[in-house]
Amino acid sequence: MSTKKARILSCIVSKGGVLKTSSVTSLSGVILKDKKDGIKNKKILLIDLDTQGNVSNAFGKNPDLFNPTIYDVLIGKNKPEDAIVNVYEDENGSIDLLPSNDDLELLEMTVLTNVSKYGPPLELLKKSCTHLVDKYDYILFDTPPNTGLLVLNLFAFNGGVPVEVLVPFQPENFSFRGLMKVFEKVESMKSKNNPNLNIKGVFGTLINSRTTVHKGVLKVTRDKTSERGYHFFDTYIPKSVAAATAFAYAGLPVTLTSENKSNKLLINSYQKLWEEIR
Ligand SMILES: Nc1ncnc2c1ncn2[C@@H]1O[C@H](COP(=O)(O)OP(=O)(O)O)[C@@H](O)[C@H]1O
Ligand SMILES: [Mg+2]
Repeated sequence: MSTKKARILSCIVSKGGVLKTSSVTSLSGVILKDKKDGIKNKKILLIDLDTQGNVSNAFGKNPDLFNPTIYDVLIGKNKPEDAIVNVYEDENGSIDLLPSNDDLELLEMTVLTNVSKYGPPLELLKKSCTHLVDKYDYILFDTPPNTGLLVLNLFAFNGGVPVEVLVPFQPENFSFRGLMKVFEKVESMKSKNNPNLNIKGVFGTLINSRTTVHKGVLKVTRDKTSERGYHFFDTYIPKSVAAATAFAYAGLPVTLTSENKSNKLLINSYQKLWEEIR
């Protein structure tokens, strides 16, 4: 493990089913295998901020079996070290998970009704998890499909390194509005609360390159995104059954399974996306 502070990445947009979880978990696999960062025995941490606990599922684990979870950490009942589990290991290093499950649904009610006990509601993550920045090379956050309390905690997470936000964009009705909302929230939190918060860029997801409407919507969105001063990555994640196959047969994100004819395109897309993010 290197001595430098963790690089923090997250996938955020107020919409479900747009590959937030798939992208974060697949990128963790690509980052683990990436030699270009020169980090030996790499330590990656995934922090699941979604009550659905889908990061656990992506690694073949049942989220309901974890106790304690991120919920207990955020309310100060447990240290993150008590909740963190290892979910993958190879010669490149390890991927740990700070898991979540539907216990996390209790969070708002618990902390908002007793601020004197739990402290400022936006600082729960910062208070409990800042020291993890010194223990990992990369920390990747998966998030719920809204910009409520948990995502605001992430936006306020100032551990001395930037929180880099990746925004998945599926070219469909209402997605553009969702994209603008993320920009607005990030801009507002950055100016009021955390200068260490940046939008790294937007990337297309679930793209069918043969669908001309996808091409058209992507072009318009790319232009509007750069007008707003943000980057739209060249790489997009194609629609593919290989993701579901990896999950069903290996219980792993596709980038941690061995490459074959049917998953090659999807794995390559995540690798190329990481080339751009890196
Ligand atoms: N490249 C892909 N093409 C088609 N479906 C995918 C792909 N990657 C993942 N999926 C499936 O799409 C669904 C939504 O993905 P998910 O990452 O859970 O979205 P989110 O976290 O934004 O809700 C899941 O059932 C997942 O297995
Ligand atoms: Mg998800």
